[in-house]
Amino acid sequence: MGNGIAQVAARAGFTVLMHDIKVEFLDRALSTISSSLQRDVDKERMSASDKDAVLSRIMPSVEISALAGSDFVIEAVPEIQAVKSATLKQIDGVTRPDVILASNTSSISITELGTGTSRPDRFIGMHFMNPVPVMKLVEVIRGAATTDETFEITRGLAETLGKVPVEVNDSPGFISNRVLMPMINEAIFALYEGVASAEAIDQVMKLGMSHPMGPLQLADFIGLDVCLAIMNVLYDGFKDSKYRPCPLLTKYVSAGWLGRKSGKGFYVY
Ligand code: CAA
Repeated sequence: MGNGIAQVAARAGFTVLMHDIKVEFLDRALSTISSSLQRDVDKERMSASDKDAVLSRIMPSVEISALAGSDFVIEAVPEIQAVKSATLKQIDGVTRPDVILASNTSSISITELGTGTSRPDRFIGMHFMNPVPVMKLVEVIRGAATTDETFEITRGLAETLGKVPVEVNDSPGFISNRVLMPMINEAIFALYEGVASAEAIDQVMKLGMSHPMGPLQLADFIGLDVCLAIMNVLYDGFKDSKYRPCPLLTKYVSAGWLGRKSGKGFYVY
């Protein structure tokens, strides 16, 4: 999702410092951004020179210290609380104290992540949807200490990026994944119990409910590891058995079948 966020920010005219831990990850991100922009060039919605200009505004770096001059930071590392907290601590250490730090977490407590930094008042959730260049929604999540000023600046930034910000309070899974993920998990249970095939489950939801993707296809698109991590956040957060992850989801993740990104999930890619 980080490359999608970098793309929309650069397209909105911002200079973007894109940080990752390996050069190969940054190269892959730049190539994904280039292909995504190329769709618009091919459809004559963007000139080739505008595409080059957007790409030239994205500065990749493996050095966290490169973030020192940033005015706003959006973190989008994997959905693992320890990884997020450690990364945010590093970012907190290199950025100016007045800078707002936003997390693209899809379910982890903004209050807890913010408390681990020196600026919980300038910490906020900014949850984009995949594919970031296409989806209009950004959930903007206030932690317990997030100030109104931080919220307003973040909401304004989301609008400048061409998105529609929706305010949500801090609670496991926020709104998007509190509603979406149990539906996906239920679809996996239906498959696990042999109620229908993966194709049939997806067809029911696509043709019957006008969902653009069926729940199993969407799970593969999101990443099964991400789906499992979010179900665990809901389960741990509410201590309610209705959020228990389906054993089939756990098994697929253990097997390394993570969906599109690994070449196999509920479908083969
Ligand atoms: N970059 C730029 N544009 C893209 C793109 C990308 N990566 N992927 C698709 N598009 C554009 C296409 O160019 C096309 O644009 P136009 O219609 O303007 O020409 C449009 O999106 C539709 O694409 P396609 O025709 O290729 O394919 P499609 O009609 O099957 O749509 C889809 C693809 C937009 C992904 C659609 O299937 C969809 O909306 N799926 C559901 C996505 C969804 O639910 N996302 C939320 C996931 S949950 C999440 O992200 C949060 C979380 O915490 C887990």
